Amino acid sequence: MIPDNSRCVRKSRVLQGALTIAALTIVIVQPGNALQAPKLSVMPWPKSVETGQGEYKLDGYFRAGFSGAHDARLDKALNRFIVRLNLQCGGVRRTQYDAKDSDPLSLTLSVAGPGGAVQGIDEDESYKLNVTSSGVALRAATDVGAMHGLESFLQLVTMRDGACSLPAVTIDDAPRFVWRGFELDVVRHFEPISVIERTLDGMAVAKLNVFHWHLSDDQGFRAESKKFPRLTENASLGQFYTQDELRHIVAYARARGIRVMPEFDVPGHTASWVYAYPELGDGRTVRRIPQEFQEYETNQGELDPTKESTYKFLDTFIGEMGEIFPDAYFHIGGDEVDGSGWKTSASIQEFMQKKGFKTKDDLQAYFNQRLLPILQKHGKKMVGWDEVLNPALPKDIMVQSWRGEESLSAGAAQGYTGILSAPYYLDGQKTSEEMFLADPIPADTKLTPEQQSKIIGGEVCMWAEQIFPGTADSRIWPRTVAVAERFWSPQSDRDVADMYRRLRVVSLELEDAGLTHISGPAKLRRSIVGSTHTGAIDAMASVTEPVSFGDREDAQHTDALTPLNGLADAVVADPPARQEIAAEVDAVMNEHSKAAEAALRERFLAWQQAAPELLALAQKSGRFSNAGPRVEQLAALAAVGLESLAYIDAHTAPPAGWLNKQKALLKNVEQPGAYVRFVFLPALGKLAESAATSR
Ligand code: ACM
Repeated sequence: MIPDNSRCVRKSRVLQGALTIAALTIVIVQPGNALQAPKLSVMPWPKSVETGQGEYKLDGYFRAGFSGAHDARLDKALNRFIVRLNLQCGGVRRTQYDAKDSDPLSLTLSVAGPGGAVQGIDEDESYKLNVTSSGVALRAATDVGAMHGLESFLQLVTMRDGACSLPAVTIDDAPRFVWRGFELDVVRHFEPISVIERTLDGMAVAKLNVFHWHLSDDQGFRAESKKFPRLTENASLGQFYTQDELRHIVAYARARGIRVMPEFDVPGHTASWVYAYPELGDGRTVRRIPQEFQEYETNQGELDPTKESTYKFLDTFIGEMGEIFPDAYFHIGGDEVDGSGWKTSASIQEFMQKKGFKTKDDLQAYFNQRLLPILQKHGKKMVGWDEVLNPALPKDIMVQSWRGEESLSAGAAQGYTGILSAPYYLDGQKTSEEMFLADPIPADTKLTPEQQSKIIGGEVCMWAEQIFPGTADSRIWPRTVAVAERFWSPQSDRDVADMYRRLRVVSLELEDAGLTHISGPAKLRRSIVGSTHTGAIDAMASVTEPVSFGDREDAQHTDALTPLNGLADAVVADPPARQEIAAEVDAVMNEHSKAAEAALRERFLAWQQAAPELLALAQKSGRFSNAGPRVEQLAALAAVGLESLAYIDAHTAPPAGWLNKQKALLKNVEQPGAYVRFVFLPALGKLAESAATSR
């Protein structure tokens, strides 16, 4: 079994945009005709929200302006904001060309200063947003805080009676954690610049502030080095970012209040380095760039920590990359060092003996000790995965915990700064709920307040063995926003139902912002079917989700050339139907809801009706051929549901043995198949249990 987190495998007042203030609307709340306070869909949920009375209507004209100075970055952010507002509201026109100075401001921005020339972890990201019936005021210390406030503004806008409005509200917001990251592996499968840009657009919506870019690994080297051109000439298979592209992404991110931290993983996960520059290696020959992901199948080369030339190379390389990536933090990986080449090299063994090193961990600690002053010389702070945690290293390194909360706590207890990633591996295909509830500092932490202050946030991780550009978005979004809320919002924010309510809204916002997490899988399903008539496969896809990374690896042994274009790639983790079906079953059982019963019956019938078409598809399509047994199971499960509803409706208990038979079927379909699993089994089990006791 491959554990789920294992992968070794491895500006003056300038007028902007549109229009005037709408007429005031005074909402009169009368007894017996009480208007419900609107449910806000801001996500991540702000630190403090006070709802007021009334609303601000955006009914045709909108004009934004600044009180005080601001810079060009914020002008551009405001322009992007107005484009999105226009898209969202339709009726709102962009009128910076025809707005007059005498027009009242709909949105007044007051920003104290731009923030750091290079954004740091101490950037003030706070903002205050005040919506009254006469307009909106946004105040922030920095551009970054103002951009967060603009995102919240867009999330407050709702469409009603053909017009957009914002409810009267006062938001006073600031993040709980300073480090709210998203890590993307662009090695196992390369992601073009367009995917990186829209990922950054999504991160801005989610108020995430660190893009951690995993740029090198065994399977390729993705960042152009002019000092060491063979890294990409020989070891990228043509898939890499030029230095201009790397700089473009750093600028694109900064324009959105996002830092970019590069990761160059050393001294393991380095077959690409050694393939390009064999003299860096541990003595093993890397004959080709491995396209396999499983360690045991790859011909890995790890760096030789005993040679001075290795450090000279790294010094020059880090100096070069350090200029392209101005961030204070530089990630050196450090995970999953195998060390078998260190064992078989006589010179490395001799070195270890001389130094009194007993284990590969001792040698890796030595390597990190040598690397640290090099990073410091280039003005960088060292970040590494769990494995860099070693008493030999000073306390000013930062540890990214991917193996578990325990190691994060252990590091914090020893005085190391840390961030949490273990529970946020997207390819574990866990629900948004599970990831949202996992807290970098749980309420019951045993750490002292001083130790807790060492945990400065977390990162969502997207590894790329099982994604390609067509599926990256649907694996990342919208679940990443649930974690972004965990990193931003107060620890006490644990209302799962409300999180999901807002996540559904933000999911659509993300798609409007250019992400393709909804349209991407739909496109894949059209392509599987070879038609725009996708009703049958959509019915099945709505109730299935991908199995975890480890389960798929166990069954499929993917490599970089495995086509990722089947059912498992065209479905998403934690689809809305999981909760919808559970809620419908609860409503049938607890409230005898006829509407819920009808909704369930409609679903079950749709599954049954889809089956013949899908079985025919499985016969003819190589991309769907593994799904046939799953289709048959879905039809059988539909029968369990329909029979259950029939007994419940008839107030009749089923014959003896019926429930056991249904349970056996439900158990059987838990077996892996087609790298997908059904998302409604617990709810269907409850429904069958309920039918068995009906009277
Ligand atoms: C990792 O997942 N090996 C950091």
